[in-house]
Amino acid sequence: MSRAAPEPKENMGKPEPRLEARLKVTGEARYASDEQVNNPAFAFLVTSPIARGTITSIDLDAAKAVPGVLEIFTHQNTGDLKTVKFGSSGGGATTSIQDFGPKIQHDGQIVAMVVADTLEQAREGAFKVKISYQAEHPSATFDSEGATTKAVTKTLPQAGDAPKGFESAAVQLEAAYSTPTQHHNPIELFTTTAVWNNDQVTIYEPSQFMYGLKNNAATKLGIHADNVHGISHFVGGAFGSKAQLTPRTGLVALAAKRLGRPVKLVATRDQGFTIATYRAETRHNIRIGAGKDGKIASFQHQGWEVTSRPDDYSVAGVEDSARMYGFGAVKTEVHTVHADRNTPGFMRSPPVVPYIYALESALDELAVKLNMDPVELRRVNDSMKDATGKEWSSRSLMKCYDQAAQAFGWSKRTPQPGSMRDGDWLIGWGCASAFYPTHIGAATARVQLNADGRATVQVAAHEIGTGVMTVVGQMAAERLGIPLDQVRVEVGDSKLPPVPVAGGSNQTASCCSVVMKACDALMARLNGNNAPETVGKAANGNALADRFSRLGVSMLEEYAEFIPPGAEPNALTGLITNPIKQLYAGTPTLVGGSKGKKLMYAMGAEFVEVRVHAQTREIRVPRLVGAFAAGHVMNPRTARSQLMGGMIWGVSSALHEATEIDKRNARYTNDNLADYHIPVNADVQDVDIILVPEIDHEVNPAGVKGMGELGNVGTAAAVANAVYHATGIRVRDLPLRLENLLV
Ligand code: MOS
Repeated sequence: MSRAAPEPKENMGKPEPRLEARLKVTGEARYASDEQVNNPAFAFLVTSPIARGTITSIDLDAAKAVPGVLEIFTHQNTGDLKTVKFGSSGGGATTSIQDFGPKIQHDGQIVAMVVADTLEQAREGAFKVKISYQAEHPSATFDSEGATTKAVTKTLPQAGDAPKGFESAAVQLEAAYSTPTQHHNPIELFTTTAVWNNDQVTIYEPSQFMYGLKNNAATKLGIHADNVHGISHFVGGAFGSKAQLTPRTGLVALAAKRLGRPVKLVATRDQGFTIATYRAETRHNIRIGAGKDGKIASFQHQGWEVTSRPDDYSVAGVEDSARMYGFGAVKTEVHTVHADRNTPGFMRSPPVVPYIYALESALDELAVKLNMDPVELRRVNDSMKDATGKEWSSRSLMKCYDQAAQAFGWSKRTPQPGSMRDGDWLIGWGCASAFYPTHIGAATARVQLNADGRATVQVAAHEIGTGVMTVVGQMAAERLGIPLDQVRVEVGDSKLPPVPVAGGSNQTASCCSVVMKACDALMARLNGNNAPETVGKAANGNALADRFSRLGVSMLEEYAEFIPPGAEPNALTGLITNPIKQLYAGTPTLVGGSKGKKLMYAMGAEFVEVRVHAQTREIRVPRLVGAFAAGHVMNPRTARSQLMGGMIWGVSSALHEATEIDKRNARYTNDNLADYHIPVNADVQDVDIILVPEIDHEVNPAGVKGMGELGNVGTAAAVANAVYHATGIRVRDLPLRLENLLV
């Protein structure tokens, strides 16, 4: 594996190491539950062992008798908590199931929380809480008795007469695919610590959305948002699971208020499977009608997604799958299937991961039918317009294919399944495309520059592992013309200027665009003109100090607001408060992707080598090559890390990950990292990332397309396609396991 930081190319920033790297590797980085608070009490959750029914009685005597137990919270004494609206498209709450009983709507629903002087006492108390239930038969998932199906009401892409196009096509492909439940499993668990000071509460909680945490917690507690202070300096993995308000937050804050003492909760790994969100299982039916030349005249994609009883959550990635190529006509529909489950939610690349898996698998099947190279099939259908006539702001898909194919050695592939072999190992080579919508949201920033050339940048952004501090610092250093080590970046605090949720891969684009604006305004003031001349250019000798002294100040500060083109003029207000409902909304308004006048996406091409053992059918993935184009790359080192992590996650989706559900009782059975399989080092060998230069001035002022959620899209299809090439066996249901390949 080539490990060196890549050289900067045209339109790429410097491969700076992370600003917080030293803190992280020395253990000095403070995650939310590491924050020191004075005399904390400790909380432990009790969760429901049934998925559907009613609490009939609660007996707390034994629990209360445990020494050190201070208080126990159940549905009987938490009625003060308000309901936060479920945020089906970001913001809001993770679920509308926010009560702790008496009604039970999913396995692992929080039913009580024991607070004690020590963690051990709280845990012992929790095990001694006796709750009786009237259980009803639950529906677990697809095909379960009692699960109900509903069509989604979002407008989905439709163009032309796709069914007719299918009927009259020379080559027809119809296939069904499925993806399983997956859980984020961030290494940092779901934690909340609440500390009150009179009417003000500080909440330490790992968060992808500081203003969502602040405003939604305020709504939950029925207090003014100014009285909530959220702190989340570092986040140990989130992937969509820490973007919205979970029921635990209000509960911990309420407990701290009642006890007049800080309360700290660290939920256990298994509780994390049910008190937060997950990627729902999906099913797909695809019909493609093509000419003998491979040109696709008709594309139809139907999707089904499991969700909870009350919440209409769906990712509906037909919005993406139906637009990615120049299809002649498209017809799409999506249904939600409601079962007795916790509400699913965003999980890394939510719409595209399952839907592009289906699309890119189907294209491989079509290539086989056409006896055409799968790269050529993508080339034939590459187009600067989708079926509805929308044009792309930029599209570098085939550049990615060409560079990745070259690096991979694709020209040496022999197409016949099973035709490439190394001793006992059947070799398969497969490829697939990666797509991710380019999102951007309204954001604000404050930048200060001192006469000594040191700067501070403040944004309420989220260091979820992506390297946002570093890229924001780089943008400021570049615009102010000072070295990066003279820039201090502050993030992870709701008292800092608001920015959107760190979701939908918008954070770099949104934060860099506003920081750029603030820096340029500051330089214009410093230089006494409107030209964004940099300090570097201005500061020959004592020029910088001279400029400050001429202005009679030792520090300049600029606050900027950035509303991306295409966003509502009040997008920023929506981030902070909801003016219509008079609630504290914390609603991120992201634009871009397929929502605007032009299609804006980051893209990539992924090539995979698999080796399937001829006798045991063991599947190995020795080689991954991905080439990606995502506009201006702020930092090729952090970009590469994101893409590499993404592709490894893609291998995980292909071969390892699935949350198993016991269909009899609608409970997750492998809710721990021993039984929930993820790749280890031995499962991943060579990962080669190629950054393809791309310039797109239409996406945003910084020219940045997001890429955090790009790398893991397409990998699972590429692996499945490679397994077909190795074995001649087409597995359409993920994860692919050796039992699928027994002959
Ligand atoms: Mo990502 S699933 O938008 O955090």
